[in-house]
Amino acid sequence: MSIDTEKLPEHVAIIMDGNGRWAKQRAMNRVLGHEEGTESVRVIVRTSREIGIKWLTLYAFSEENWKRPKYEITALMGILKRFLKSELKEMMDNNIRFLTIGRISRLPDDVRKMVEETTAKTSGNTGLTLTLALSYGGRQEIFDAMQKIAKRIVSGDLQPSDINEGLISGFLYTAGMPDPDLLIRTSGEYRISNFLLWQIAYTEIYTTPVLWPDFRKAEYIRAIEDYQKRERRFGAAG
Ligand code: IPE
Ligand code: IPE
Ligand code: MG
Repeated sequence: MSIDTEKLPEHVAIIMDGNGRWAKQRAMNRVLGHEEGTESVRVIVRTSREIGIKWLTLYAFSEENWKRPKYEITALMGILKRFLKSELKEMMDNNIRFLTIGRISRLPDDVRKMVEETTAKTSGNTGLTLTLALSYGGRQEIFDAMQKIAKRIVSGDLQPSDINEGLISGFLYTAGMPDPDLLIRTSGEYRISNFLLWQIAYTEIYTTPVLWPDFRKAEYIRAIEDYQKRERRFGAAG
């Protein structure tokens, strides 16, 4: 492993894509691709912790994914529940804090309850923060924030001149989190699919044709090595 621990990305965000194609290549049901993808999640969480990443944010279900067939949504919700159940001990043993971003209220009641319980039980942990984006949409996040800000202005708590980057960031689902340093998208697509639109203004993007169920430790290390070769300028002269 040749990663420089002095130059680690503090926050890695991942668009986990390609489960369906992975299954299709094997003439299997898409759901089996999601099952195999869950093992990649376990590996990437463990590896993040081992190398010392502080924030890992995984795009697990988008607002737009509600358009998928009911059987697939039901299967994904079941996988999520089983994942939370099986990983709680791992999270407690390894000081992992669990958070979510997105419209959690849209999740089925039993799943929402498990999400809330896992968040509460791990809230005192101080190691890696694992955030799952669930029923998440970047535009929805921004307009939710706009509505909250508008209400504060109407009530007189805020003035229009108070609005600045910091204030907006503080009204997003990601309030208190650093912006991602590295965004990974698997499965060879070159799009953002409504993920963290505000937060990725200066994020380094890494794409790979590898499908999510095949994205394991070696692929992850490769992405971090690639990130470490980049020169980040944030608009300044080089
Ligand atoms: C990503 O895999 C998982 C979710 C979006 C829930 P996909 O299900 O999008 O897989 P492809 O893109 O069809 O291969
Ligand atoms: C993005 O993948 C959402 C998640 C990974 C959860 P999609 O497969 O839903 O995105 P599109 O449809 O290819 O843009
Ligand atoms: Mg996809």
